[in-house]
Amino acid sequence: MLCNIKNLLDKANESSWAVGSFSVANLEMVLGIIKAAEETSSPIILQIAEVRLKHSPLEIFGPLMVAAAKNAKVPVAVHFDHGLTLEKIKLALDVGFTSVMFDGSHLPLEENINMTNQTIKLAKNYGASVEAEIGCVGGSEDGSVDIAINCTSPADAVCFCNEASVDALAVAIGNAHGNYKETPHLRFDILTQVKEAVNLPLVLHGGTGILPEEFIKCRENGIKKINIATATFDSVEESVRKAYNGGNITGYYDLHCAEINGAYQNALKHIKIFDSSNKAKLFI
Ligand code: 13P
Repeated sequence: MLCNIKNLLDKANESSWAVGSFSVANLEMVLGIIKAAEETSSPIILQIAEVRLKHSPLEIFGPLMVAAAKNAKVPVAVHFDHGLTLEKIKLALDVGFTSVMFDGSHLPLEENINMTNQTIKLAKNYGASVEAEIGCVGGSEDGSVDIAINCTSPADAVCFCNEASVDALAVAIGNAHGNYKETPHLRFDILTQVKEAVNLPLVLHGGTGILPEEFIKCRENGIKKINIATATFDSVEESVRKAYNGGNITGYYDLHCAEINGAYQNALKHIKIFDSSNKAKLFI
């Protein structure tokens, strides 16, 4: 069942669980993640970032994501991650995504506010929700740029939220995209300050490699949407490699199943850590 991210995050905000927001690139990942969500009765978010569209064109893959959400037995929101241009954000809304992110984290605050407000105006026509980001999460979604971590300033977060009515705010608290070079230790002091300063569900990008105990502390302290990308891609690749090495791939459909299984295993693991199992019933 296709749903709006705002409903999911507002409900999660009443308690200590969080929603996994899983980046997808092909049909097998979508099927594996939805299988894990249905088995655990967990709401989830499927997402794709603008930088990934060169591999998975939005006009083709976006409708597949929306159709998969509509057919799922659990609530599934479909989100456009790290939107960089209003043109692609509009395309995501046209194909039926229920939320979009404008990523203005690299822009001066005023410009970020201005572009986010244009995104909000656009999304309103579709009844869609909007996520924004303040501060800089390290790395970049596809690893093409090595952006330095710049932790969110709680004062900037307040100023931003006063000027732009977003539904969710992504924070930078020592998190980074991709595989971490060292075990990350998140700045919970900053997270607590931002949570107290803005009354919004918060988003953690760069979920791959964060320790389970840190995820738990995050969801207990205002993080309600947790983005996972690299861990899924790695899990799919590893599952396929193991299947080949074990002599278990003798034809295309064995490969197809190995991919689904890689995405499924990774989603299952994260759904348990995020404590979103059995929360689907809250939305029926
Ligand atoms: P990872 O690739 O580190 O899991 O980050 C995902 C993400 O934040 C997508 O926006």
